[in-house]
Amino acid sequence: MNQSVERITGNHLKDTYHRLINYLRISITDQCNLRCIYCTPKGPVEKLPHNEILRYEEILKIVRIGAGLGITKVRVTGGEPLVRKDCDDFLAKLAEIPGISDISLTTNGILLEKHLDHLRGIGIKRLNISLDTLDAGKYKRITGQDAFDRVWSAISKALQKGFSPIKINVVAMNGINDDELKALATLTLKYPLHVRFIEQMSYFDPDAGQSKALAEDDIKLIIAPLGELESCERNKKYGPASRYRLKGAEGEIGFISPVSHHFCKWCNRLRLTSDGCLRSCLLSDIVTDIKTPLRNGATDAELAAAIVEAVAKKPLEKSCSGTHTGSRMFSIGG
Ligand code: 5AD
Ligand code: SF4
Repeated sequence: MNQSVERITGNHLKDTYHRLINYLRISITDQCNLRCIYCTPKGPVEKLPHNEILRYEEILKIVRIGAGLGITKVRVTGGEPLVRKDCDDFLAKLAEIPGISDISLTTNGILLEKHLDHLRGIGIKRLNISLDTLDAGKYKRITGQDAFDRVWSAISKALQKGFSPIKINVVAMNGINDDELKALATLTLKYPLHVRFIEQMSYFDPDAGQSKALAEDDIKLIIAPLGELESCERNKKYGPASRYRLKGAEGEIGFISPVSHHFCKWCNRLRLTSDGCLRSCLLSDIVTDIKTPLRNGATDAELAAAIVEAVAKKPLEKSCSGTHTGSRMFSIGG
Protein backbone atom coordinates (compact mmCIF):
# COMPACT_ATOMS: atom_id res chain seq x y z
CA MET A 1 0.00 0.00 0.00
CA ASN A 2 1.48 3.35 -0.86
CA GLN A 3 1.66 6.16 1.65
CA SER A 4 -1.12 8.23 0.08
CA VAL A 5 -3.62 5.40 0.23
CA GLU A 6 -2.70 4.73 3.81
CA ARG A 7 -3.47 8.33 4.67
CA ILE A 8 -7.03 8.22 3.43
CA THR A 9 -8.09 4.75 4.52
CA GLY A 10 -11.42 4.81 6.33
CA ASN A 11 -12.26 8.37 5.24
CA HIS A 12 -9.81 9.87 7.69
CA LEU A 13 -7.16 12.26 6.49
CA LYS A 14 -4.16 12.03 8.78
CA ASP A 15 -0.95 13.96 8.45
CA THR A 16 2.54 12.61 8.96
CA TYR A 17 2.27 13.35 12.68
CA HIS A 18 -1.04 11.47 13.08
CA ARG A 19 -3.16 14.61 13.38
CA LEU A 20 -6.66 14.07 12.06
CA ILE A 21 -7.32 16.71 9.38
CA ASN A 22 -11.07 17.21 9.15
CA TYR A 23 -11.36 20.99 8.94
CA LEU A 24 -11.06 23.10 5.79
CA ARG A 25 -10.92 26.89 5.90
CA ILE A 26 -11.90 28.41 2.61
CA SER A 27 -11.04 31.97 1.67
CA ILE A 28 -13.54 32.90 -1.04
CA THR A 29 -12.08 36.33 -1.74
CA ASP A 30 -8.99 38.37 -0.97
CA GLN A 31 -11.12 41.54 -1.04
CA CYS A 32 -12.28 43.29 2.09
CA ASN A 33 -14.38 46.34 2.88
CA LEU A 34 -12.19 47.20 5.87
CA ARG A 35 -8.49 47.88 6.26
CA CYS A 36 -7.71 46.72 9.78
CA ILE A 37 -4.34 48.00 10.94
CA TYR A 38 -3.05 44.52 11.80
CA CYS A 39 -4.15 42.97 8.55
CA THR A 40 -3.65 45.36 5.70
CA PRO A 41 -0.29 46.69 4.56
CA LYS A 42 0.15 50.43 4.20
CA GLY A 43 -0.24 51.72 0.67
CA PRO A 44 -2.31 50.28 -2.16
CA VAL A 45 -3.30 46.64 -1.96
CA GLU A 46 -2.91 44.88 -5.25
CA LYS A 47 -5.98 42.97 -6.31
CA LEU A 48 -5.71 39.43 -7.61
CA PRO A 49 -6.82 39.23 -11.25
CA HIS A 50 -10.38 37.90 -11.47
CA ASN A 51 -9.32 34.79 -13.35
CA GLU A 52 -6.90 33.83 -10.57
CA ILE A 53 -9.74 33.56 -8.07
CA LEU A 54 -11.40 30.15 -7.84
CA ARG A 55 -14.92 30.13 -9.18
CA TYR A 56 -17.64 28.93 -6.80
CA GLU A 57 -18.11 25.67 -8.75
CA GLU A 58 -14.39 25.00 -8.44
CA ILE A 59 -14.46 25.53 -4.68
CA LEU A 60 -17.52 23.30 -4.34
CA LYS A 61 -15.79 20.56 -6.30
CA ILE A 62 -12.75 20.69 -4.02
CA VAL A 63 -14.98 20.55 -0.95
CA ARG A 64 -16.92 17.55 -2.34
CA ILE A 65 -13.67 15.71 -2.89
CA GLY A 66 -12.41 16.80 0.54
CA ALA A 67 -15.61 15.50 2.12
CA GLY A 68 -14.92 12.13 0.54
CA LEU A 69 -11.53 12.18 2.27
CA GLY A 70 -12.92 12.95 5.72
CA ILE A 71 -13.34 16.74 5.80
CA THR A 72 -16.46 17.37 7.90
CA LYS A 73 -16.04 20.98 9.01
CA VAL A 74 -15.73 24.01 6.80
CA ARG A 75 -15.15 27.64 7.67
CA VAL A 76 -15.74 30.29 5.04
CA THR A 77 -13.48 33.33 5.32
CA GLY A 78 -12.03 36.11 3.19
CA GLY A 79 -10.86 38.88 3.03
CA GLU A 80 -14.46 39.54 3.86
CA PRO A 81 -16.54 36.66 2.46
CA LEU A 82 -19.79 38.64 2.34
CA VAL A 83 -18.39 41.11 -0.20
CA ARG A 84 -18.21 38.40 -2.85
CA LYS A 85 -21.17 38.47 -5.23
CA ASP A 86 -23.70 35.65 -4.87
CA CYS A 87 -22.13 34.31 -1.68
CA ASP A 88 -25.60 33.34 -0.33
CA ASP A 89 -26.11 30.97 -3.22
CA PHE A 90 -22.61 29.54 -2.79
CA LEU A 91 -23.20 28.98 0.94
CA ALA A 92 -26.48 27.20 0.24
CA LYS A 93 -24.73 24.81 -2.18
CA LEU A 94 -21.93 24.28 0.30
CA ALA A 95 -24.46 23.36 2.98
CA GLU A 96 -25.88 20.66 0.71
CA ILE A 97 -22.62 18.75 0.30
CA PRO A 98 -22.98 15.32 1.93
CA GLY A 99 -20.53 14.78 4.78
CA ILE A 100 -20.09 18.47 5.60
CA SER A 101 -21.83 18.64 8.95
CA ASP A 102 -20.51 21.90 10.28
CA ILE A 103 -20.20 25.21 8.43
CA SER A 104 -19.15 28.46 9.98
CA LEU A 105 -18.50 31.94 8.72
CA THR A 106 -15.79 34.41 9.68
CA THR A 107 -16.90 37.96 8.96
CA ASN A 108 -16.20 41.52 10.00
CA GLY A 109 -19.96 41.93 10.44
CA ILE A 110 -20.34 45.01 8.24
CA LEU A 111 -22.71 43.31 5.77
CA LEU A 112 -23.84 40.53 8.07
CA GLU A 113 -27.26 41.68 9.22
CA LYS A 114 -29.01 41.27 5.90
CA HIS A 115 -27.61 37.75 5.46
CA LEU A 116 -28.65 36.40 8.88
CA ASP A 117 -32.02 34.93 7.90
CA HIS A 118 -30.55 33.21 4.86
CA LEU A 119 -27.71 31.77 6.95
CA ARG A 120 -30.13 30.34 9.51
CA GLY A 121 -32.34 29.06 6.72
CA ILE A 122 -29.54 26.94 5.26
CA GLY A 123 -28.45 25.69 8.69
CA ILE A 124 -25.40 27.86 9.38
CA LYS A 125 -25.34 28.71 13.08
CA ARG A 126 -21.70 29.39 13.83
CA LEU A 127 -20.26 32.87 13.38
CA ASN A 128 -16.90 34.47 14.09
CA ILE A 129 -17.13 38.23 14.07
CA SER A 130 -14.12 40.55 14.30
CA LEU A 131 -14.52 43.33 16.85
CA ASP A 132 -11.51 44.82 18.59
CA THR A 133 -13.17 47.67 20.44
CA LEU A 134 -16.50 48.85 21.86
CA ASP A 135 -15.70 52.48 21.06
CA ALA A 136 -17.02 53.79 17.74
CA GLY A 137 -14.18 56.29 17.23
CA LYS A 138 -11.55 53.68 17.93
CA TYR A 139 -13.32 51.23 15.63
CA LYS A 140 -12.86 53.73 12.84
CA ARG A 141 -9.19 54.19 13.67
CA ILE A 142 -8.58 50.43 13.70
CA THR A 143 -10.59 49.49 10.62
CA GLY A 144 -10.82 52.67 8.55
CA GLN A 145 -14.65 52.65 8.58
CA ASP A 146 -17.14 54.38 10.82
CA ALA A 147 -19.20 51.22 11.24
CA PHE A 148 -19.17 50.13 14.87
CA ASP A 149 -22.93 50.55 15.23
CA ARG A 150 -23.61 48.35 12.21
CA VAL A 151 -21.42 45.58 13.51
CA TRP A 152 -22.85 45.77 17.03
CA SER A 153 -26.36 45.72 15.62
CA ALA A 154 -25.52 42.61 13.56
CA ILE A 155 -24.13 40.90 16.66
CA SER A 156 -27.30 41.74 18.64
CA LYS A 157 -29.53 40.44 15.86
CA ALA A 158 -27.45 37.28 15.53
CA LEU A 159 -27.90 36.66 19.26
CA GLN A 160 -31.66 37.19 18.96
CA LYS A 161 -31.88 34.81 16.03
CA GLY A 162 -30.16 32.05 17.97
CA PHE A 163 -26.79 31.82 16.24
CA SER A 164 -24.45 29.82 18.44
CA PRO A 165 -21.65 29.98 19.11
CA ILE A 166 -21.00 33.59 18.19
CA LYS A 167 -17.30 34.14 18.62
CA ILE A 168 -15.95 37.67 18.85
CA ASN A 169 -12.36 37.90 17.60
CA VAL A 170 -10.36 40.56 19.40
CA VAL A 171 -6.79 41.18 18.31
CA ALA A 172 -5.12 42.46 21.48
CA MET A 173 -2.90 45.48 20.81
CA ASN A 174 -0.87 47.37 23.35
CA GLY A 175 -1.64 51.09 23.34
CA ILE A 176 -4.68 50.55 21.11
CA ASN A 177 -7.26 48.38 22.85
CA ASP A 178 -5.48 47.16 25.99
CA ASP A 179 -7.66 49.58 27.98
CA GLU A 180 -10.78 47.82 26.67
CA LEU A 181 -9.91 44.18 27.12
CA LYS A 182 -11.72 44.05 30.46
CA ALA A 183 -14.86 45.58 28.96
CA LEU A 184 -14.73 43.13 26.06
CA ALA A 185 -14.29 40.19 28.46
CA THR A 186 -17.19 41.51 30.54
CA LEU A 187 -19.50 41.03 27.56
CA THR A 188 -19.43 37.31 28.38
CA LEU A 189 -21.15 37.97 31.73
CA LYS A 190 -24.20 39.37 30.02
CA TYR A 191 -24.28 37.62 26.64
CA PRO A 192 -23.57 34.05 25.52
CA LEU A 193 -20.70 35.33 23.39
CA HIS A 194 -17.31 33.67 23.10
CA VAL A 195 -14.81 36.50 23.29
CA ARG A 196 -11.46 35.33 21.95
CA PHE A 197 -8.32 37.32 22.46
CA ILE A 198 -5.87 36.81 19.64
CA GLU A 199 -2.18 37.57 19.83
CA GLN A 200 -1.23 39.79 16.97
CA MET A 201 0.96 38.27 14.31
CA SER A 202 2.92 40.66 12.18
CA TYR A 203 2.90 40.00 8.48
CA PHE A 204 4.35 42.98 6.76
CA ASP A 205 6.80 44.70 8.98
CA PRO A 206 8.09 42.28 11.58
CA ASP A 207 9.34 45.07 13.84
CA ALA A 208 6.33 47.35 13.72
CA GLY A 209 3.69 44.76 14.57
CA GLN A 210 5.37 42.95 17.41
CA SER A 211 5.94 46.10 19.46
CA LYS A 212 2.16 46.46 19.82
CA ALA A 213 1.50 42.78 20.46
CA LEU A 214 0.22 41.56 23.80
CA ALA A 215 0.89 37.98 24.82
CA GLU A 216 -1.73 35.69 26.39
CA ASP A 217 -0.16 36.10 29.84
CA ASP A 218 -0.30 39.92 29.53
CA ILE A 219 -3.97 39.76 28.56
CA LYS A 220 -4.76 37.43 31.49
CA LEU A 221 -3.14 39.93 33.86
CA ILE A 222 -5.16 42.80 32.39
CA ILE A 223 -8.49 40.99 32.84
CA ALA A 224 -7.57 39.39 36.20
CA PRO A 225 -9.61 41.96 38.21
CA LEU A 226 -12.77 40.43 36.68
CA GLY A 227 -12.22 37.31 38.77
CA GLU A 228 -10.97 33.81 38.36
CA LEU A 229 -11.01 32.21 34.94
CA GLU A 230 -12.42 28.70 35.21
CA SER A 231 -10.95 26.45 32.59
CA CYS A 232 -13.46 24.94 30.19
CA GLU A 233 -12.07 21.52 29.53
CA ARG A 234 -11.40 21.04 25.86
CA ASN A 235 -14.61 19.31 24.94
CA LYS A 236 -13.13 18.54 21.60
CA LYS A 237 -9.70 17.28 20.94
CA TYR A 238 -8.71 19.82 18.35
CA GLY A 239 -8.79 23.60 17.99
CA PRO A 240 -6.38 26.42 18.74
CA ALA A 241 -8.16 28.27 21.56
CA SER A 242 -7.64 27.74 25.27
CA ARG A 243 -11.04 28.35 26.79
CA TYR A 244 -12.26 29.75 30.09
CA ARG A 245 -15.33 31.12 31.77
CA LEU A 246 -15.83 33.82 34.40
CA LYS A 247 -17.94 32.60 37.32
CA GLY A 248 -21.61 32.61 36.39
CA ALA A 249 -20.92 33.91 32.90
CA GLU A 250 -23.18 33.28 29.93
CA GLY A 251 -20.29 33.13 27.50
CA GLU A 252 -16.66 32.09 27.32
CA ILE A 253 -13.30 33.77 27.13
CA GLY A 254 -10.71 32.23 24.83
CA PHE A 255 -7.11 32.86 23.95
CA ILE A 256 -5.58 32.18 20.59
CA SER A 257 -1.88 32.55 21.05
CA PRO A 258 0.09 31.79 17.93
CA VAL A 259 3.04 33.81 19.15
CA SER A 260 3.53 32.73 22.78
CA HIS A 261 2.02 29.25 22.86
CA HIS A 262 2.33 26.38 20.48
CA PHE A 263 -1.01 24.95 19.53
CA CYS A 264 0.35 23.13 16.53
CA LYS A 265 -0.23 19.72 18.06
CA TRP A 266 -3.98 20.49 18.16
CA CYS A 267 -4.11 21.76 14.60
CA ASN A 268 -6.67 19.93 12.47
CA ARG A 269 -6.89 22.36 9.60
CA LEU A 270 -6.13 22.82 6.00
CA ARG A 271 -6.66 26.10 4.13
CA LEU A 272 -7.83 26.76 0.62
CA THR A 273 -6.79 30.23 -0.54
CA SER A 274 -8.94 32.34 -2.81
CA ASP A 275 -6.43 31.86 -5.64
CA GLY A 276 -6.60 28.09 -5.42
CA CYS A 277 -3.75 26.92 -3.24
CA LEU A 278 -3.93 24.49 -0.37
CA ARG A 279 -1.92 25.58 2.65
CA SER A 280 -1.52 23.16 5.50
CA CYS A 281 -0.02 25.73 7.89
CA LEU A 282 -0.78 29.42 8.26
CA LEU A 283 2.75 30.11 9.42
CA SER A 284 4.59 28.39 6.65
CA ASP A 285 5.06 29.05 2.97
CA ILE A 286 4.42 25.45 1.96
CA VAL A 287 1.63 25.52 -0.61
CA THR A 288 0.06 23.02 -2.99
CA ASP A 289 -1.43 24.45 -6.17
CA ILE A 290 -4.77 22.73 -6.76
CA LYS A 291 -6.17 25.26 -9.23
CA THR A 292 -3.81 24.29 -12.07
CA PRO A 293 -4.68 20.58 -12.07
CA LEU A 294 -8.34 21.45 -11.56
CA ARG A 295 -8.37 23.71 -14.62
CA ASN A 296 -6.30 21.25 -16.65
CA GLY A 297 -9.00 18.61 -16.30
CA ALA A 298 -7.55 16.49 -13.48
CA THR A 299 -9.75 13.60 -12.41
CA ASP A 300 -11.37 13.53 -8.97
CA ALA A 301 -8.80 10.91 -7.94
CA GLU A 302 -5.95 13.20 -9.01
CA LEU A 303 -7.47 16.11 -7.10
CA ALA A 304 -7.90 13.88 -4.05
CA ALA A 305 -4.22 13.01 -4.38
CA ALA A 306 -3.38 16.74 -4.40
CA ILE A 307 -5.32 17.18 -1.13
CA VAL A 308 -3.56 14.19 0.41
CA GLU A 309 -0.23 15.64 -0.74
CA ALA A 310 -1.02 19.00 0.88
CA VAL A 311 -1.88 17.26 4.15
CA ALA A 312 1.28 15.16 3.96
CA LYS A 313 3.31 18.38 3.72
CA LYS A 314 1.80 19.80 6.91
CA PRO A 315 4.73 20.69 9.16
CA LEU A 316 4.83 19.50 12.76
CA GLU A 317 5.16 23.03 14.09
CA LYS A 318 5.24 26.60 12.97
CA SER A 319 8.63 27.41 11.58
CA CYS A 320 8.68 31.00 12.77
CA SER A 321 7.64 32.96 15.87
CA GLY A 322 4.38 34.42 14.69
CA THR A 323 6.08 36.66 12.20
CA HIS A 324 5.42 35.87 8.63
CA THR A 325 6.29 38.37 5.98
CA GLY A 326 5.65 36.26 2.91
CA SER A 327 1.85 36.23 2.91
CA ARG A 328 -1.05 38.52 3.47
CA MET A 329 -3.60 37.51 6.11
CA PHE A 330 -6.51 38.75 4.03
CA SER A 331 -5.54 36.48 1.15
CA ILE A 332 -5.09 33.41 3.35
CA GLY A 333 -8.21 33.98 5.40
CA GLY A 334 -6.81 33.99 8.93
N1 5AD B 1 -2.75 38.91 13.83
C1 5AD B 1 -3.71 38.20 14.47
N2 5AD B 1 -4.95 38.02 14.00
C2 5AD B 1 -5.25 38.59 12.83
N3 5AD B 1 -6.38 38.59 12.11
C3 5AD B 1 -6.18 39.30 10.99
N4 5AD B 1 -4.92 39.77 10.95
C4 5AD B 1 -4.31 39.34 12.09
C5 5AD B 1 -3.02 39.49 12.64
N5 5AD B 1 -2.07 40.18 12.02
C6 5AD B 1 -7.58 37.91 12.55
C7 5AD B 1 -8.59 38.86 13.11
C8 5AD B 1 -9.81 38.64 12.30
C9 5AD B 1 -9.55 37.32 11.62
C10 5AD B 1 -10.22 37.20 10.32
O1 5AD B 1 -8.17 37.25 11.46
O2 5AD B 1 -8.93 38.47 14.40
O3 5AD B 1 -10.92 38.55 13.15
FE1 SF4 C 1 -10.79 42.79 6.53
FE2 SF4 C 1 -10.66 40.92 8.40
FE3 SF4 C 1 -8.42 41.97 7.46
FE4 SF4 C 1 -10.03 43.46 8.96
S1 SF4 C 1 -8.93 41.59 9.61
S2 SF4 C 1 -9.08 44.10 7.02
S3 SF4 C 1 -12.00 42.73 8.40
S4 SF4 C 1 -9.84 40.74 6.33
